[in-house]
Amino acid sequence: MKNLHNALLLKQLYQLKQLGYKYTSVVPYKEEELNLTLPNTLSSLEKQASNCHLCELSKSRQKVVFGEGNPQADIFFVGEAPAATEDSSGKPFVGRSGELLTRMIENVLNLSRADVYITNIVKCHPSNNQIPTPTQAHTCQPYLLKQIELTKPKIVVALGVTAYHYLTGDDSAIAEVRGTVHKLNGYTLIPTYHPSYLLRNPSAKKEVFEDLLKIKELM
Ligand code: URA
Repeated sequence: MKNLHNALLLKQLYQLKQLGYKYTSVVPYKEEELNLTLPNTLSSLEKQASNCHLCELSKSRQKVVFGEGNPQADIFFVGEAPAATEDSSGKPFVGRSGELLTRMIENVLNLSRADVYITNIVKCHPSNNQIPTPTQAHTCQPYLLKQIELTKPKIVVALGVTAYHYLTGDDSAIAEVRGTVHKLNGYTLIPTYHPSYLLRNPSAKKEVFEDLLKIKELM
């Protein structure tokens, strides 16, 4: 509830900043006027997210890409945002980068895709594959935090810099932090390169392989 409340406040502040405000006394959302509680099951949370219109990505999306996988997964992957293929299918990581992610899960972690959970920082496709804006990412964040809270993974893998940044608040470059181990709220976070980066830079697969072996060891 506090996360959703903070996300709405932050959204309000970003909107005011875009309008040119430098200082303001925001009128906080009153919890009794808004239902700020998110459901406590993944299926009801998905239902709520599928009707979400909290940011402008909802205007151009075809489908909300909530996430999928084992609701009690030990390993939880977070990407950046659904691409066009995911937008039309409603499933995360089903395009070329998804095929690579699936091979990484199967061939290195020796798990099936259905054993892990896969989602993104934002649940709707940004047109032209733009990086989600801070407003979009923060507005969508309560869904992700609730998915993590309900799934209770041991390890969260941040795929790429956007996922790492919004999960930790750290804006270091991904090349500097990949493979590092972070103890967060009840889980261990490990950042690595995004599969679409690997499609463009196949030589970085070696480093992702090392990061996945570290994840395997930690399990
Ligand atoms: N890239 C992402 O970050 N997420 C997807 O679901 C697909 C491509």
